[in-house]
Amino acid sequence: MGLKSKDLLGMKQLTAEEIMEILDTAKTMKLVISSANKKTSHLQGKSVVTLFYENSTRTRLSFELASKYMGSASANISTSGSSVNKGESLLDTARTIDMMGTDIIIMRHNHSGAPHFIAPHLKASVVNAGDGMNEHPTQALLDMLTMYERFDTFEGKNIAICGDVYHSRVVRSNAIGLTKLGANVSVYGPKTMMPIGIEKMGVRIADSVADCVRDADAVMGLRVQLERQQKSLFPSIAEYSHFYAITPEMLALAKPDAFLMHPGPCNHGVELPTAVYDCDQSVINEQVTNGVAVRMAVLYLLMARRNNL
Ligand code: CP
Repeated sequence: MGLKSKDLLGMKQLTAEEIMEILDTAKTMKLVISSANKKTSHLQGKSVVTLFYENSTRTRLSFELASKYMGSASANISTSGSSVNKGESLLDTARTIDMMGTDIIIMRHNHSGAPHFIAPHLKASVVNAGDGMNEHPTQALLDMLTMYERFDTFEGKNIAICGDVYHSRVVRSNAIGLTKLGANVSVYGPKTMMPIGIEKMGVRIADSVADCVRDADAVMGLRVQLERQQKSLFPSIAEYSHFYAITPEMLALAKPDAFLMHPGPCNHGVELPTAVYDCDQSVINEQVTNGVAVRMAVLYLLMARRNNL
């Protein structure tokens, strides 16, 4: 039991069996979140630090709550208020946290590959909480848990993902994870927001929102990441929402029991109208709860590996 690697750096590094082990463990962990006494001893005696160089609400808080629910000592450090602002390097910062007896460092960084860079230098396990435009593995795992609660198997399921594909680490991690488990992934967005060669990841590039979502089992909207755009990649928000938003009419083209997902935060009225965000098919709020369950599972399985060595 446990993950094969010391670190969780991306979906690329996980096998299909490991993904399923995380999802099955997360299903059990979800029972803790809904219980009156949210306290287990799975991480008793362990220490967990979140190190965030980028803003976050869901990921950071869910990792912090996950570690607290499992009884670890936990602390948070962000760029503001730390010696990063005095020019301390990423590696020196990570080594400093490591030398305080930290068992797991959870890091979000604006540069792709930052967690991969520090991990080999540290005794602590490193968890990638989002690195630039590369990967966001625990987001994909919570998305997959939300699907797994509704699907018996991922094999042959049609997953439609629409929006700012270019800047999205969420789409990359989902594409890797979902195709490993046999799902069919279709993506669509403005051509200026479509990475060259994305089809090499085993996804289909759709011709329109309608083509992407037709007969989908699950539909996922992606946030337009205005903060990562050096120049505007579409003429106006009005045009973007006209051509690329998932409207009620578009969602109606998916299978009748299809559900709607979004990793959050959402630009209401841009990638999704509020009516779609709040519709009966939306499982966006459930994704938030599943984020805590998946992160509990990941922390637990990383420490289980260490205990088995
Ligand atoms: N989905 C996601 O990563 O959200 P946060 O940026 O709030 O963590």
